[in-house]
Amino acid sequence: MDDTLTGKADFEDIYTAPDPRPYFRTLGPLDYRIPGEMLPLVVQALRSAPGPQRPVLDLCCSYGLNGALLRTDLDFAGLTAHYTGADLDEGTPEARIAADREFVGAHLRGDAPVVRGLDIAAPAIDHSVAVGTLSAGWAEDLESADPSAELAAGIADTGLLICTGGIGYVSQTSVERILGCLEHPERVWVLCSVLRSVSYDAVRGACSSYGLVTEQVPVPPLRQRRFADATEARSAVEGARAWGCDTTGLEDDGWWYAEAWLSRPAADAEALPVEDLAAAAGRLAA
Ligand SMILES: C[S@@+](CC[C@H](N)C(=O)[O-])C[C@H]1O[C@@H](n2cnc3c(N)ncnc32)[C@H](O)[C@@H]1O
Repeated sequence: MDDTLTGKADFEDIYTAPDPRPYFRTLGPLDYRIPGEMLPLVVQALRSAPGPQRPVLDLCCSYGLNGALLRTDLDFAGLTAHYTGADLDEGTPEARIAADREFVGAHLRGDAPVVRGLDIAAPAIDHSVAVGTLSAGWAEDLESADPSAELAAGIADTGLLICTGGIGYVSQTSVERILGCLEHPERVWVLCSVLRSVSYDAVRGACSSYGLVTEQVPVPPLRQRRFADATEARSAVEGARAWGCDTTGLEDDGWWYAEAWLSRPAADAEALPVEDLAAAAGRLAA
């Protein structure tokens, strides 16, 4: 069992382009979909966390796809259609960003939540903040360094920390450093999708050290994307089996699958059982 992404194809180039077009054009054919799969759970977590809604922090946010889904009326298909359209292929980077800003702005919800992002890739953060999929963002690597003073101050009031497709790229080290910035780490909710070949134990431990209780959200395994090649297929199947998962009808059929994990204060977990939260998210998705 592994807590990293051994055997996963290397897509670093698409995470560091000036805009998300290479991201969608590379991952689209692989049916990439985890932000959309997680959306009902994220929305339900935002609604269910007690008290006034507090800002979301998206760890490994890339081009702010979770921010786009939460802050606009667009779905994943709408985002994909925009970013894979051929109309701006010849334009300058500035023209593409202006077009993306106009597109996002036209779809922004009146009650858009505050969604901030953290990613190692500066171009992805710059694009997301420029076009409005993120309210604010920071390009930092908390695996290797403490947060800057700007990041620490900027995320202090976070109420919901999310991470889709990022655990394995980042570990408990980043999560611990984020929790260490919060005014109220003992009140935060942490919701992550985690590939079935990747262990969540260490992140669970980091949350537990702040008194948060971690539960697996009882939903069927979530499709992340199709395998890019045979090496991915082998490592996903072997990794999931090593973790005790039955891969029949799941990884065996060519897809990366993830599970959703939720950490929150014990009192919140008692007040709203995770089964009820999953059911409410299922009604949102229906
Ligand atoms: C598979 S993508 C997931 C992107 C997005 N969350 C989604 O669901 O589409 C992984 C992201 O992790 C970021 N990443 C990798 N290492 C990181 C680190 N040490 N700190 C922050 N982000 C990192 C990459 O730049 C990339 O944007």
